[in-house]
Amino acid sequence: MTCGLPPRLFLLLISLLQDSEETCPSMCLCISDTISCSSSGLSRIPTSIPTFFTTLDLSHNHFSWLGPGNFNRMPQLENVLMSHNQISSLGHGVFRNASSIRHIDLSSNKLRVVEQHYFEGLWRLEELLLYNNRITQVEASTMSGLSSLKKAYFSLNQITHFPFFSIQDHSHPFLSMLDLSSNRMSRLPWEDVKALPGLLQRGLYLHNNSLICDCTMYSVFWHWDLRGYNSIKDFTEEHTCTISGDPKASIQFLKQNRFFFNCSLEKVVSQTVTVLLSSVLVSEGEGIRLDCQTSLNSTNLSFTWLSPSRGSITKSSVNDTQITLFPNGTLEIQAVKSNDSGLYMCTAVDFKQALNATREVNVTVQLPQTESFNTGYTTLLGCVVTLVLILMYLYLTPCQCNCCKPPRPAGIPIVAYDPSSLSSVFLSTSRKPSKPFINKHVAFMEPTDEEGADGTLES
Ligand SMILES: *[C@@H]1O[C@H](CO)[C@@H](O)[C@H](O)[C@H]1NC(C)=O
Ligand SMILES: *[C@@H]1O[C@H](CO)[C@@H](O)[C@H](O)[C@H]1NC(C)=O
Ligand SMILES: *[C@@H]1O[C@H](CO)[C@@H](O)[C@H](O)[C@H]1NC(C)=O
Ligand SMILES: *[C@@H]1O[C@H](CO)[C@@H](O)[C@H](O)[C@H]1NC(C)=O
Ligand SMILES: *[C@@H]1O[C@H](CO)[C@@H](O)[C@H](O)[C@H]1NC(C)=O
Ligand SMILES: *[C@@H]1O[C@H](CO)[C@@H](O)[C@H](O)[C@H]1NC(C)=O
Ligand SMILES: *[C@@H]1O[C@H](CO)[C@@H](O)[C@H](O)[C@H]1NC(C)=O
Ligand SMILES: *[C@@H]1O[C@H](CO)[C@@H](O)[C@H](O)[C@H]1NC(C)=O
Ligand SMILES: *[C@@H]1O[C@H](CO)[C@@H](O)[C@H](O)[C@H]1NC(C)=O
Ligand SMILES: *[C@@H]1O[C@H](CO)[C@@H](O)[C@H](O)[C@H]1NC(C)=O
Repeated sequence: MTCGLPPRLFLLLISLLQDSEETCPSMCLCISDTISCSSSGLSRIPTSIPTFFTTLDLSHNHFSWLGPGNFNRMPQLENVLMSHNQISSLGHGVFRNASSIRHIDLSSNKLRVVEQHYFEGLWRLEELLLYNNRITQVEASTMSGLSSLKKAYFSLNQITHFPFFSIQDHSHPFLSMLDLSSNRMSRLPWEDVKALPGLLQRGLYLHNNSLICDCTMYSVFWHWDLRGYNSIKDFTEEHTCTISGDPKASIQFLKQNRFFFNCSLEKVVSQTVTVLLSSVLVSEGEGIRLDCQTSLNSTNLSFTWLSPSRGSITKSSVNDTQITLFPNGTLEIQAVKSNDSGLYMCTAVDFKQALNATREVNVTVQLPQTESFNTGYTTLLGCVVTLVLILMYLYLTPCQCNCCKPPRPAGIPIVAYDPSSLSSVFLSTSRKPSKPFINKHVAFMEPTDEEGADGTLES
């Protein structure tokens, strides 16, 4: 098997490699930038591995341990594929001098504890695959230095606690996927979870754990569900929790939410889910008023707005002539700037009945030039069309002979001119229609074809 290359070319390639004093180990295949030693019965890294490769595939072998400096003669190494081995731990400094690594696949091994030194120094690491191991614990600072991390997969392990607090906006600006589904977490530190960066909350997978039902848990998932996150939409039925920890009393809490009827959130929500989200388009410099009408109808409510650019806004905190918070909860901003764009969230609290309700408004501030151009342009267009129509009307209607078909109805082009689309409008977006194609994101529930060098690699 010579990978589609003519045998002579293949031999030439091999001899070129030999010329550079770096031979391909006999049990491996060396192809352009990839060394594949998959399924070769290896338990140690071959000594004579050439140094200039970017992908090293050691999957389906018998490795049980990785020691210091294993990869330090490969300065260009980017992808390390070691799934389907027997690795139970990594020594100190395994990836020392291998800081160009972007992708590590250690899935389907026997790792137990992810120690803080495992991935030290891998500041370029983008993808970490650790699913289907025997991990019970992820040490607190494991994730700390991984500042380029985009996706991390910890599914199908036995994790009971995860250091959510170590993931923050500034430490992990690109992390958009953290898969902790099918583990053994029963209680999560919900305050830490709610403080996770917004980008990550969209891509946090927590289904099929052994969660214990309670209101705090439910309200977090409820909010994610309301925002239409795929992590919830694609796995609605796998979101289960157990009532007082009894594994037999497990419910699909996003479907049968009766149990949460006592949660104050639920009482409010059951009435007016659809009006909770809306969006506003406004041009820079204009004023906006965002109302906080919720299902709470008490006359004594207290309102808090959370805004993207100014943080939390309450009646007592307003100290800005540009902003007004009216007693009825309406927030007025007199001249919006482009950095006022984003999701505004209002919480109305009825202290007497201990009820909270939230209302979200997605504000998009347009730059003034484009808006004024559009408006001017469209208005001009409207005038021209009207003028043409008037002229057509004047010149065509006197034709009264029967052979003339009635002139094209003058109304048609005008109908297309919809003045309401020009000014700022409140678009009441209900939830987005669910996509016909469900992208499940988690492509590995059955570890299938990641053995090939090209199986799980991006880029
Ligand atoms: C890492 O590289 C530096 C210089 O490139 C070298 O001095 C050091 O010995 C290397 N470390 C290991 C563990 O090989
Ligand atoms: C749920 O997790 C268990 C292990 O914790 C696993 O065996 C099972 O396949 C998972 N189920 C689903 C639907 O992912
Ligand atoms: C809801 O609250 C009522 C009264 O406070 C209580 O009797 C009932 O058991 C609660 N229901 C649940 C599911 O917790
Ligand atoms: C508020 O609404 C509830 C039910 O929607 C109703 O029973 C109650 O009378 C209302 N209260 C006021 C002050 O309108
Ligand atoms: C409104 O609620 C606040 C907070 O509970 C309370 O201090 C205040 O007296 C209430 N006002 C009225 C008019 O009920
Ligand atoms: C938003 O931008 C304006 C200038 O356009 C600036 O004066 C203001 O400080 C910015 N606000 C924030 C919260 O960054
Ligand atoms: C409002 O801000 C000004 C300066 O920005 C400060 O002097 C004043 O004390 C503030 N007032 C309140 C009520 O915080
Ligand atoms: C809230 O009060 C402001 C100022 O009195 C008013 O302009 C606005 O229409 C009110 N909003 C609602 C929803 O009643
Ligand atoms: C309601 O809001 C108050 C103040 O924002 C908060 O302390 C409380 O935890 C909230 N309750 C619920 C059930 O969300
Ligand atoms: C808000 O609206 C903008 C533009 O329409 C969109 O790109 C963004 O995803 C929306 N944000 C949310 C949280 O819906």
